[in-house]
Amino acid sequence: MKTVRVAAARNPFDLLCDDIAPDKSISHRSAMFALLSDRPSRVKNYLRGEDTLATLSIVRSLGVAVEEEDEGAIRIVPPERIVEPEEILDCGNAGTAMRLFCGLLAGVEGSFVLTGDRYLRRRPMRRVVDPLRKIGAAIDGREGGNLAPLHIRGGALEPFEYHSPVDSAQVKSALILAALRAKGTCRYKENFLSRDHTERMLLGMGAELRKAEEGWIEIEPLAKPLEPLDLRIPADPSSAFFFAVAAAIVPGSVVRFTEISLNPTRIEAFRVLESMGAQVEYRIVEDRYEPIGEIRVAYGGGLRAVEVSERIPWLIDELPALAVAMAVAEGTSRVRNAAELRVKESDRIASVLTALEACGIETEEYPDGYAIRGGELRAARIDSHGDHRIAMSFAVAGLLCGMEIVDTDCVATSFPNFFDILSRITEVE
Ligand code: S3P
Repeated sequence: MKTVRVAAARNPFDLLCDDIAPDKSISHRSAMFALLSDRPSRVKNYLRGEDTLATLSIVRSLGVAVEEEDEGAIRIVPPERIVEPEEILDCGNAGTAMRLFCGLLAGVEGSFVLTGDRYLRRRPMRRVVDPLRKIGAAIDGREGGNLAPLHIRGGALEPFEYHSPVDSAQVKSALILAALRAKGTCRYKENFLSRDHTERMLLGMGAELRKAEEGWIEIEPLAKPLEPLDLRIPADPSSAFFFAVAAAIVPGSVVRFTEISLNPTRIEAFRVLESMGAQVEYRIVEDRYEPIGEIRVAYGGGLRAVEVSERIPWLIDELPALAVAMAVAEGTSRVRNAAELRVKESDRIASVLTALEACGIETEEYPDGYAIRGGELRAARIDSHGDHRIAMSFAVAGLLCGMEIVDTDCVATSFPNFFDILSRITEVE
């Protein structure tokens, strides 16, 4: 288990970040959706993190050939038909991989076993297993199908109309992927729009997806293979956000991100940071499957407390880093309606609050969030609980006071060069 020590930053920084990790959500989807075409997809800037490499290795087991091309691009060559794999499909730490593969494979004839690391094997899968079972999928696992390893015996799927009780892009994507192989038109609805990469990418590939009344999405089953993907994956706003917080808390600092996704369902945390007093500017440069451009974040004086209880799915992954900004803001910040934090890579309400308490910050825990009373952070030894976003959030907090982070291997799941970038700002050992 690796331990990293981050020293307090001695000077303000002015950082041009053109090497933020490529978007994890889009990377997973590009490898999976390539299976829906009969021609090779070309993907530039695929995230070489453990989570998305697990997805790439799973699609290989399903018959895909992955070829390295020039400019670091990969060519994903789909098989004529998905192959019944000889081995267990290991999703590692990636909930996105496990849940989306459930939907993708439920309608494919064959036997598939999905597993993951000890953290993923504790995360709830019933949210995708139950609706898939209702339409005829045969899926089993521990605790009645809630916990991996999961066994899927793919087969024919009935058309469905499903109003999801949880606003989750993973559930939505699993059900949309299942719908593409169902026997008729399917309808899906969530109460609040979760990240919409699946809809954007599948539409771009020629799938028939329509917005219907009252937030329903209608999905037609595939009549023929889809167009292949041809894309360059933008920087991941959730990864960039760690350095956005860094600039917002280290007096006099500035950071600029290029070629970053500006998808509105992904940049809400930047807007909250702006409302707390940071200076944030956005510039759309192109629109390919989704808006892509630049974000600049500058220290704007001291931060002010904020209440966050709306549009939670648009900033769920950024809440741990935002908690660090809340910890140094003036006043008491609150996060509500965020019970989903409990079932992420760790129970992020518990892990954020334990870490903040260790840094001398007063907090209060709610079933669906927390209150954080802004104060002065002090150096501590923080356990990441195997959760990449906890490790990175508190490494950034270390810029103000120094910090020791225990168990940092998990950072490689989503942002392998995180500490390289951090070491441009301060000493990291
Ligand atoms: C993801 C969706 C989110 C997010 C996760 C990635 C995706 O999860 O937390 O990191 O790529 O679809 P939920 O959709 O379950 O909230």
